[in-house]
Amino acid sequence: MNKVNGSHAPGYLRLGVNIDHVATIRNARGGEHPEPVRAAHLAAAAGADGITAHLREDRRHISDDDIAQLRGEISLPLNLEMAATEEMLEIALRHKPNACCLVPEKREELTTEGGLDVAGGHNHLRRYTDKLKASDIRVSLFVDANERQLEAAGMLEADIVELHAGAYCEAFLDGDEERTAAELARLTSAAAMAEKLGIEVHAGHGLTFDTVSPVAAIPEIVELNIGHFLVGEAIFVGLHDSITRMRGLMDAARGQ
Ligand code: PXP
Repeated sequence: MNKVNGSHAPGYLRLGVNIDHVATIRNARGGEHPEPVRAAHLAAAAGADGITAHLREDRRHISDDDIAQLRGEISLPLNLEMAATEEMLEIALRHKPNACCLVPEKREELTTEGGLDVAGGHNHLRRYTDKLKASDIRVSLFVDANERQLEAAGMLEADIVELHAGAYCEAFLDGDEERTAAELARLTSAAAMAEKLGIEVHAGHGLTFDTVSPVAAIPEIVELNIGHFLVGEAIFVGLHDSITRMRGLMDAARGQ
């Protein structure tokens, strides 16, 4: 049991469930089923601590209406992933999610391929981070586990960095133990550095039942955002079981 007097025990690791790919399946037929908001309700009932949704420029999965519905119906914190563009800024300021995670976006990519170049795009990003913060929206920057990017995130006074776990997960899937260990070490030292800079640390991308435990064991990380695998696994076991099993692995990695 990881709750103490109704609140979470120290060291509790939050799970943000990304529901983008519920929308991907819905959009494959252009109708309304399956509804992302229904998945968000189920995720809440299964113990998710937050809902994450990525509104992409091309609206390939989550739609503007989904964001409005999630904001209106779901009491869990909403983490809106978005590119740093004027259009997305206007939408964020209108819906006021709890957090906005700024991500790089390329039209031709299948998923978010790398972290944001905070160091290179520092001046460009400042305008977005300042406006979001002024509107009481927490600013999260999706970055590779890299010192330069973390320093730049610190200079931008980001509230959160989300460390890109993709390189670690890919190394694991390739069966390359040396690279897996090296990528995990990069995530571990980046998490420690971000905490020293006073930035809250999250991680995500590509996590599965097989890869989650070592990342969940990194003590500075306070939240994982997981989507594709949970929604895929839900086809076989249902969303509730898929989420509760992930939750169990995260708690076990924290000794809870
Ligand atoms: N975090 C960020 C910033 C992402 O862009 C994504 C993918 O949309 C995720 C987490 C979730 O990744 P996955 O769907 O691979 O679990």
